[in-house]
Amino acid sequence: MTTQTLQGRIALVTGGTTGIGFGSAKRLIEHGATVYITGRRQEVLDAAVAKLGKGAHGIQADASVKADMQRVAGAIKAAHGKLDILFANAGGGHATPLEELTEAQIDSELSINIKGVVLTMQTMLDVLRNGASVVLNASITADMGLSGFAVYAATKAAVRSLARSWTTDLKHRDIRVNTISPGVVPTEGYGKEQKMTDQQVADYVDRVSTEIPAGRVGSAQDIGDALVFLASDASAYIRGVDLVVDGGMTRVYAGKN
Ligand SMILES: NC(=O)c1ccc[n+]([C@@H]2O[C@H](COP(=O)([O-])OP(=O)(O)OC[C@H]3O[C@@H](n4cnc5c(N)ncnc54)[C@H](OP(=O)(O)O)[C@@H]3O)[C@@H](O)[C@H]2O)c1
Repeated sequence: MTTQTLQGRIALVTGGTTGIGFGSAKRLIEHGATVYITGRRQEVLDAAVAKLGKGAHGIQADASVKADMQRVAGAIKAAHGKLDILFANAGGGHATPLEELTEAQIDSELSINIKGVVLTMQTMLDVLRNGASVVLNASITADMGLSGFAVYAATKAAVRSLARSWTTDLKHRDIRVNTISPGVVPTEGYGKEQKMTDQQVADYVDRVSTEIPAGRVGSAQDIGDALVFLASDASAYIRGVDLVVDGGMTRVYAGKN
């Protein structure tokens, strides 16, 4: 069921062309928001905007490039004069044994997952209205030890930390900052970033589903629903928290006693 709780709200979802970002943008639109999405690949961006339909706008931009994000802020300001909801979602990484980790991979994961989130927040400050809701996309890996994901997990722990610091920094403007930590959400990224084949993804989903109390992996819409809550006035008293959306995977033992 959808309501129009976000009617009249202007939202930005970075990395909104596929996966969690796309599903979240779809949910925001279903709840009445006007949504700007970004991504680096123009043709993927155009296809996503067309699929999202009315209420969607696309701006090609790399979240880790300040000039790109300044251009995004300028376009939203010119069109609407304000931004009500910011979902800093663009990010990624993949598993690599410690011995094989290259400088390029370390730089790339730090750049998109930390620098990109900082630049997104900084460049949007001028257009974000007082009382706006900011949500950063973290990950359950932030408090797990997951083989090969050390750098990625550390960047996501940093994202959670940024949300707490910015909650203090932006207190005078009543801007709320929270994080969402998705669990296992099979997306295009599993093929593109993790280099998994469709069969490998299917086998992984089968295996991991039995370990998740909800009995299934998550969907981009599950994350979108959590985002709608954190973006709406229903969460007005919630600040600086991490909302784990993982079907209970990291908090509950799903096996037999
Ligand atoms: N899927 C999961 O299981 C899972 C779990 C926990 C957390 N997360 C987090 O969720 C977020 C989205 O992941 P996903 O699984 O939905 O990945 P995805 O399907 O690969 O989507 C990533 C999106 O971000 C865009 N993007 C990547 N780098 C960018 C950059 N530098 N600037 C702007 N856009 C960029 C991509 O488009 P372009 O490539 O065209 O730029 C695409 O739109 C990430 O932060 C990820 O760490 C995912």
